Amino acid sequence: MLEKVKDLLHEVENFTPKSEKEVEEFRLDFLGKKGCLSELFAAFKDAPNESKKAFGKAINTLKQNAQAKVEAYKGSFETEEKGEGIDLSRPVSLDNLGSRHPISLIRNEIVDIFNRIGFTISEGPEIEDDWHNFSALNTPKEHPARDMQDTFFIQTNPDILLRSHTSTVQVRYMNENKPPIRTISPGRVYRNEAISARAHCLFHQVEGLYVDENVSFADLKQCLLYFAKEMFGEKTKIRLRPSYFPFTEPSAEVDVSCNICSGKGCNVCKNTGYLEILGCGMADPNVLENCGIDSKKYSGFAFGMGIERIAMLKYGVNDLRLFFENDVRFLKQFSSL
Ligand code: DAH
Repeated sequence: MLEKVKDLLHEVENFTPKSEKEVEEFRLDFLGKKGCLSELFAAFKDAPNESKKAFGKAINTLKQNAQAKVEAYKGSFETEEKGEGIDLSRPVSLDNLGSRHPISLIRNEIVDIFNRIGFTISEGPEIEDDWHNFSALNTPKEHPARDMQDTFFIQTNPDILLRSHTSTVQVRYMNENKPPIRTISPGRVYRNEAISARAHCLFHQVEGLYVDENVSFADLKQCLLYFAKEMFGEKTKIRLRPSYFPFTEPSAEVDVSCNICSGKGCNVCKNTGYLEILGCGMADPNVLENCGIDSKKYSGFAFGMGIERIAMLKYGVNDLRLFFENDVRFLKQFSSL
């Protein structure tokens, strides 16, 4: 009997099926009701006591090995036999689908809003030179306003830097295009800031530029009011405060009525009812001339806003760092937007 079991163990070991049918036949032969293992277990009952131990052990091993073989091969021929192969048209599982980053969502929304009133998109390099980042923008070397933006310079060549604002694209765009100009320039900017809930060494801005004959401050104000209403809702009000930027004269900072308390005053707007969203002004004639535009004939306005700032206000996010950590628990919340 033991010899027979040894032969069967060999048979199991050497069994390499070529089809699902062979696997099933093997299963019936060994493990089925009328299979050899049933017979062997029946024979076990009548086996002499002295050989029971070795015999029992052998048939148990045979059973385990046969089961393992069936497990290993069962189902592995299924699709081939049905002639299906891999179905490339099957819909994918949508469980782990990615989504747009909130910064991209806001960027796209800003771009859409300005596209609707005739602004085109323009872009420029993130590695810039001194001229485009400062000098052409009425901020020559030693000008104190350079300190407003803590800039990353290249040590071996102080003429090269990481742009500290997207106003650089104004210069490039005016060099290459004649008025009328209506363009917005979204992009990444860099500043040597300590990273905190309110500041980062890398962030995103959108620059806007409008140059034509007879452009006035009223045009600027109306354009920004339109933007604020589209972005934060029809009831939004704006407030302009006098400010200073070297590339605009006069310059202003723009606040929108707080969309959390509707201007009544809360801790987000520090009870002022307003939140600052951007800087703007009338393009300084020096800047127009630096870029080859006749400042006697043309005037224009410019503005610049931080995308993170708008996103924080719009989505009620209170820590800027969340935008850069890419924690899926944070990002997932924007997936349906
Ligand atoms: N470049 C400024 C900054 O980064 C923002 C800005 C202010 C842009 C006024 C403008 C402007 O075009 O007119 O802080």
